[in-house]
Amino acid sequence: MAVDGLIATRGMEEAVAPALLAHYRRHARSLPWRSPTGAPPPDPYRVWLSEIMLQQTTVAAVAPYYERFLARWPTVEALAAAEDGDLMAAWAGLGYYARARNLLACARYVAGALGGRFPSDEAGLRALPGVGAYTAAAVAAIAFEQRAVVVDGNVERVVSRLFAVETALPAAKPILRALADRITPQDHAGDFAQAMMDLGATVCTPRNPACLACPLSELCAARATGDPARYPLKAAKKARPTRSGTAWWVEIGDAVWLVRRPDKGLLGGMLALPTSDWSEAPEALPLAPLVGGWRVLNQPVRHVFTHFALDLRVAMLRIENGADPAALASALGPGQLWPLETLADAGLPTVFARAAQAALDAREQENAHHDPA
Ligand code: ADE
Repeated sequence: MAVDGLIATRGMEEAVAPALLAHYRRHARSLPWRSPTGAPPPDPYRVWLSEIMLQQTTVAAVAPYYERFLARWPTVEALAAAEDGDLMAAWAGLGYYARARNLLACARYVAGALGGRFPSDEAGLRALPGVGAYTAAAVAAIAFEQRAVVVDGNVERVVSRLFAVETALPAAKPILRALADRITPQDHAGDFAQAMMDLGATVCTPRNPACLACPLSELCAARATGDPARYPLKAAKKARPTRSGTAWWVEIGDAVWLVRRPDKGLLGGMLALPTSDWSEAPEALPLAPLVGGWRVLNQPVRHVFTHFALDLRVAMLRIENGADPAALASALGPGQLWPLETLADAGLPTVFARAAQAALDAREQENAHHDPA
């Protein structure tokens, strides 16, 4: 068997960047964080913001958030001055909430200690909160036109196919990075990186790659094997476990009790419904935190996180007249009564927004029953 990557000839490696860049000049996607091809690079703040949002998240999901953030916080100084709760609420729905906390920490550091200027090289960028190897390379290349090797999942797939890498992911990661380094040009590394990402997103897709539309098809070792979609090879994954738990919808007057989750951990720093512990053991109904006539909805809300799926049951309690906030806090966790009317502005993360919607729907149906039309 060929040693990964060594089957390629030097000529092939050198041909990749010119072919890809020529294609990119004509076919680059027009995305809100990009400058038109040939124009000066965009403001580092914009590039940084977009690349943080794009970690683990699709272009389609990010675009509206990016536009809203930029309109509300047009500079790093403006973002640094944001209230924590406002920023977390604006991030709600994008997922991976540690990014939002780091975003704020990074903006405050750049606006404060660095006088509003982002570092212009990979090492300086890498030292910022929330900026890993990928983001440092992307910002250095795209905003500062430095040669940097930018490797995300799309780039890994394209490279694994170009070189028909037979080592399976994740063990293949260092091999793919070394190969990406070999094809990254000295100039235009930012365009090159974005061209690789566009190719991975639109042409060299996981299933059914569109090789007929690919500017690199003549150079591609996977294409020559006749089965490009076999790459990248992947080691068998462990099955994702399912956990279950109960969300407590406690309604008092026209408001519901919301808690703020601890900064560290899943959905950290976000407003949420109070819940029981989540457990993999098939669970009997957990002990209710307050005495009363609870109603448990039949259908749990299912949400898939990176490392587990969650079946979140919704249990509802209505307390007609005033309850002591201190008693609620001690039963449900520290929090606040949030008016139902403005619940959409609370910035609940998706799983809790869906649980809240299930409760509101159930409540609506109940009211329809009770009020003869
Ligand atoms: N994914 C991550 N960064 C990207 C970018 N700059 N363009 C397109 N897709 C991306």
